[in-house]
Amino acid sequence: MGDITLFQKKKLSGEKITMLTCYDYSSAALLAETDLDAILIGDSLGNVMQGQTNTIPITIEDMIYHTRAVRRALPEMFLVTDLPFLSYHISKEETVRNAGKIMKESGTNAVKLEGGEEIIDNVKALIAAKIPVMGHLGLTPQSFQVFGGFKVQGKDYNTAKKIIEDALLLQEVGAFAITLEGIPEKLATLLSKILSIPTIGIGAGNNTDGQVLVFQDALGISRGKLPRFVKQFANAGQEIIDGIKKYTDEVKAKTFPADEHTYKMDEDLYNSLEREYIK
Ligand code: KIV
Repeated sequence: MGDITLFQKKKLSGEKITMLTCYDYSSAALLAETDLDAILIGDSLGNVMQGQTNTIPITIEDMIYHTRAVRRALPEMFLVTDLPFLSYHISKEETVRNAGKIMKESGTNAVKLEGGEEIIDNVKALIAAKIPVMGHLGLTPQSFQVFGGFKVQGKDYNTAKKIIEDALLLQEVGAFAITLEGIPEKLATLLSKILSIPTIGIGAGNNTDGQVLVFQDALGISRGKLPRFVKQFANAGQEIIDGIKKYTDEVKAKTFPADEHTYKMDEDLYNSLEREYIK
C-alpha cells in the first residue's frame, strides 16, 4: 500500500511498478490480498462494466461511483481515476472543477488524463490546485475517432516526436507519471530513459518503469478478441462458467442445497404448523 512517493522511489530503484484496473468492490477486495502498487479506475469501465464500444460516453458520475466502490475495499491503496472525455478540455476552470469533484467525492488519490500540448494549460491548473496528475500518451482511447480506430501510435518520426515532446511537457509541468499505451517498444524504452518520472506501459513493451492491464483481460474474464499486448495470467472466466454449470446441475439434480446449507426447525413446531395448514 503506497502513496505517490512510491512512483519516484521505484523509478530510482529500478523496481517495476505494478498496476491493474479495478471498477468494483468485490474485485477490489481480492486485490486487497495482493501486493499491487496502485490501482487505476480507468474509463475502460465503459467497455468492461457497461458494454460500450468505446470510452466516449463515460461521465464524471460513472468515475465517482466506481472509484468509491473500489475505495471501500482498499482504504489505503493508491488509486488513480481517469478523467472522462471532454471533462478536461474546455477551460482551466472547468477542468479543475471536474477533477476536484472527482477527488472530493470519490476518495481517489490522483487523476489520469489523455494528451499533451493541447491540454497542458489545464494540466498546469490541476497541479496548481494540488491535484496529482498522471499523463497518458500514445494510443489514447478517447482519441480513437481522430486516429481512425484503435491503432498503434508513434510508428513514424513525426508522431514519435510528438509523443516525446508531449511527455517532456507533462513532466515539466509536474505530472508524477505517464501511461504509455499502444506504442512501439523502442519508443517506450527511449521515453523511459529520457524521463525522470516513471512510465507505466500497456502495449508498450517490457522496458517501461511499470505495467498496467485491465483486470478482466489479465485474468481471463474478458470475452472476444483481445489486443496483442494482453496476457491472460489466469482463466477466471472459465472457472466461473464451470462453477455455474456445477451449480445448475446440482439444482436440477436436487443435490443443492444439502443438509449443511439448510436452516432447521423444531420438529414439534413443524408438526403443529403442518396440522394447522395441511388438511
Ligand atoms: O481506462 C483504462 O483502463 C486505461 C488503461 C488502458 C491504461 O486508461
